[in-house]
Amino acid sequence: MKYSFPEEFINKIRESNDLVEVAAEYMTLSKNGDRYRGLCPFHREDTPSFYISAEKQLYHCFGCGAGGNVITFVMNIENLDFIDAIKFLAERSRIPLPQQQFDSGYSRRYKLQEELFRINLEAARFFVNCLTGSRKAKQYLKDRGLDVKTIREFGLGYAPEGWDNLLKYLESKGFTEESIGISGLMSERKSGSGMYDRFRDRIIFPIIDVRGRVIGFGGRTIEEGGTPKYLNSPETPVFTKGNNLYGLNIAKKHTDSGEIIVVEGYMDVISLHQRGIKNSVASLGTAFTPSQGELLKRYSRNIVIAYDSDAAGHSATIKGMDVLQSVGCKVRIIELPDGKDPDEFVRNYGSEAFYELVRKAPSLMDYKIKLLERKYDIRDRQQKFDFLHEAAALLARLDSSLELAEYVKEISQRVQVYESALRKEIETVRNRDKGQNRNIYGKNRHNNSAEEYNIAFRPANIQAEKNILVMAIRDANFRKEITSKIEAEDFEDDLYRNLFKIIKSKYIDEELLPADLVNFFHDQEEINRVVAVIDAELPLDGGEAGKLVEDCIRTIRIHKYKTRGMKLKSEIDRLASKADRTQEEETALEKYWSEFVDIQKNLRGL
Ligand code: GTP
Ligand code: MN
Repeated sequence: MKYSFPEEFINKIRESNDLVEVAAEYMTLSKNGDRYRGLCPFHREDTPSFYISAEKQLYHCFGCGAGGNVITFVMNIENLDFIDAIKFLAERSRIPLPQQQFDSGYSRRYKLQEELFRINLEAARFFVNCLTGSRKAKQYLKDRGLDVKTIREFGLGYAPEGWDNLLKYLESKGFTEESIGISGLMSERKSGSGMYDRFRDRIIFPIIDVRGRVIGFGGRTIEEGGTPKYLNSPETPVFTKGNNLYGLNIAKKHTDSGEIIVVEGYMDVISLHQRGIKNSVASLGTAFTPSQGELLKRYSRNIVIAYDSDAAGHSATIKGMDVLQSVGCKVRIIELPDGKDPDEFVRNYGSEAFYELVRKAPSLMDYKIKLLERKYDIRDRQQKFDFLHEAAALLARLDSSLELAEYVKEISQRVQVYESALRKEIETVRNRDKGQNRNIYGKNRHNNSAEEYNIAFRPANIQAEKNILVMAIRDANFRKEITSKIEAEDFEDDLYRNLFKIIKSKYIDEELLPADLVNFFHDQEEINRVVAVIDAELPLDGGEAGKLVEDCIRTIRIHKYKTRGMKLKSEIDRLASKADRTQEEETALEKYWSEFVDIQKNLRGL
């Protein structure tokens, strides 16, 4: 084994982390018979095809073919390698790591990240304490309408004036200069060496990920007109802005209403929360990225955007909304009146008024068309054409023909064109797009090996190899029978051969827990196929099953003999056609002939 954790330890880790519980930290699952079901976190989809079997402790997506156990789940969703995933789960279930392995195979990246999480947590505590001691900072938050409970829930703090308060504090806690430097909490001195506190005299907003770890900070100036107004942690090994959403750690627990509200600022999230609207997150000042979209989608697919009214129409903002839609979210847009942001809005008009805006929020399509209507003066003939061109381009992307019909009717009435003319324009756009999409689709299909393995016409012997493994995994008696009748070399498929070897060497007399098999594979593509074997549906009825096993063994043998026979035949042909054969070639020819004859005999006997 490439990895240094003992197998029993890995199995213990797996057993003490329930896959359903772990997955539920990252996505919304619903119970479906004896399985749990949800939207696959590993590919884009609208209808859930991701299943977890609590009993088998395995997941399997029928859409993209992803599959595995709790360890591979963590590897993929946290983007960790095997060792780090084990470490991660060990920590989650509070199982100490075996000390030696811990040091030898331990990845340095993970160690550093752990250290940074500890530093961030200490820093957050420090800021909270400083807030308690600063009348000025407390007054600022009070003036902004925040009460003590809210301040505590969000862990708000204060970074005091002075150059090295935090630096000294962290050093006193035993952190090294190097890791303090990497944490992003310090700035480098321009001249000479050394560093100083990055956040000074600022209100601090700790940024916490969905697992409750402090990954970075935002700091707002207290001074009227101070610049920059907000200062954020730079990117660090634990903080990538485009990968996180402020407040999701809290909002994820409040999605009963079915939606999540995306706002721009820290204060918007906090202010809405205090007024009972607890399902909002902030995009941390950047345009929405696909990875934020994927993250958000795990908790809700109904997204309501509530950006400041000045920002909402900007193209970068719209692009962010498109991103959300393209990962499978339904997006609606709130338009806030008179240049207000959500914070100011709820403070002025209360939460009921905000809920009303949420209820009335138009869909992204409605919103875009509204923007177009504002952009063009349709009384002008040329502008009317431009409007129709752009509107057609938008409508062309609608999947639902019912929706399309509604929009076409409404718009053509409003703009005074024939419905048929607008429809024709939409068709033109669609035909043009289709040409482009076909290429992309073709390429994707070709690369998708999960799909390749699901083809209906896979060779009979490969199918038999799979079936026989399915049976061997399920039933100890079949396991004995199969391993006594078939050799590893009989397998043509590399992965199936390996799986067979593992079963044969380890599980003949031992209980086989399917999820353990996954641990022997490290390539995700392979793991997906292993799970497909474990999860396959085959008849298990006594007689039927026995017959299936028999048939499969025969199929595999026939294939083995035929392949070998063909190889021999071509060697024989090659040698026989030679005019002057060496003595060695003569001997080989003879040997091949007799093997060939044996094989023919064997084949007839099957
Ligand atoms: P308040 O003035 O405290 O209410 O903040 P706001 O959220 O209303 O501010 P604004 O709408 O100007 O900014 C929205 C978000 O953009 C903030 O929460 C920050 O995340 C980010 N942002 C604003 N100003 C700055 C800045 O000067 N630098 C950086 N890096 N980010 C900023
Ligand atoms: Mn504001």
